[in-house]
Amino acid sequence: MQKLTITRPDDWHLHLRDGAALKAVLPHSARQFARAIIMPNLKPPIRSVADAAAYRDRILAALPVGQAFEPLMTLYLTDNTSPAEIAAAKASKFIKAVKYYPAGATTNSDSGVTDIRKCDRVFAAMEQEGIPLLLHGEVTDAEVDVFDREKVFIEKHLIPLVSRFPKLRVVLEHITTLDAVQFVLNANRNIAATITPQHLLFSRNALFKGGLRPHYYCLPILKREQHRLALLQAATSGNPKFFLGTDSAPHTRNTKESDCGCAGCYSALHAMALYAEAFESVDALNHLEAFASFYGPDFYRLPRNTETITLVKKTWRIPHEVSFLDVGLVPLKAGEEIPWQMI
Ligand code: NCD
Ligand code: ZN
Repeated sequence: MQKLTITRPDDWHLHLRDGAALKAVLPHSARQFARAIIMPNLKPPIRSVADAAAYRDRILAALPVGQAFEPLMTLYLTDNTSPAEIAAAKASKFIKAVKYYPAGATTNSDSGVTDIRKCDRVFAAMEQEGIPLLLHGEVTDAEVDVFDREKVFIEKHLIPLVSRFPKLRVVLEHITTLDAVQFVLNANRNIAATITPQHLLFSRNALFKGGLRPHYYCLPILKREQHRLALLQAATSGNPKFFLGTDSAPHTRNTKESDCGCAGCYSALHAMALYAEAFESVDALNHLEAFASFYGPDFYRLPRNTETITLVKKTWRIPHEVSFLDVGLVPLKAGEEIPWQMI
């Protein structure tokens, strides 16, 4: 296949940041995606309906003139989030989900939840209102091996959570393991997962290829090849529980190339081309449209988009750097050639 026209996709997990950073990255996402679920991990985080309304306005104001894009907002769950805030979120119409970060798990997660059971009253309200809970599904216990943190989260927290709240709608975000795939497959219909381009394209070997490679470092961290293959199988299986979420997470070059580098891969520039490459690798381009454009809106109970985008098989070189704040950022696969592009 040399040319692929599909329904315009949406990104169900995106970091846009704020201010000048927002202005720099937003056009990349808006070019490909009609809508995106916007992560709330700003400093300070988006904790209230009022915070989300103001952030949404800033995103819309940062859009290039004439560019359509709908930010689907989320609230950042803390130990102090109230059930009343959930009712207000539902009433707002523009807040589509609530994001759970274990305190300290990843970038800007200091205000995250210290003990998931502290949020049971909020989960009960979300279950009742039908608002999805988006999980950064990793434990933070220092004694748990970093490569096992997703698996241990599923066993220790997620299985008990879904049995306490069987009607709660849950997205296990950016899954990275066979264990997560199996959990989602065996769970009830309220449970879905997003998958990033980096976890479909790379195993943990990419982190150490020829030296230490900070631009392949994200959380949850890349895993063994057997896990990548399980994710690729899930994404291309035509199962509606698995859909697109890039987790594109911009960081300046210097904060990644550092003695304590930040987690996050930048894929907003070329996400659809990367997904096409991954799907083509297992001869499954015919499943890309549903993964990218159907299953996400179906889960979120939103209409599917009606416009289309076109991808062509034409090799191009990803830039070494994208302009971002004063220092620039390094996109995923920077400087490398990839086979697909969006026209
Ligand atoms: C994200 C970021 O930079 O905000 N980083 C990442 O590695 N994915 C946070 C997150 O989603 O974990
Ligand atoms: Zn993320």
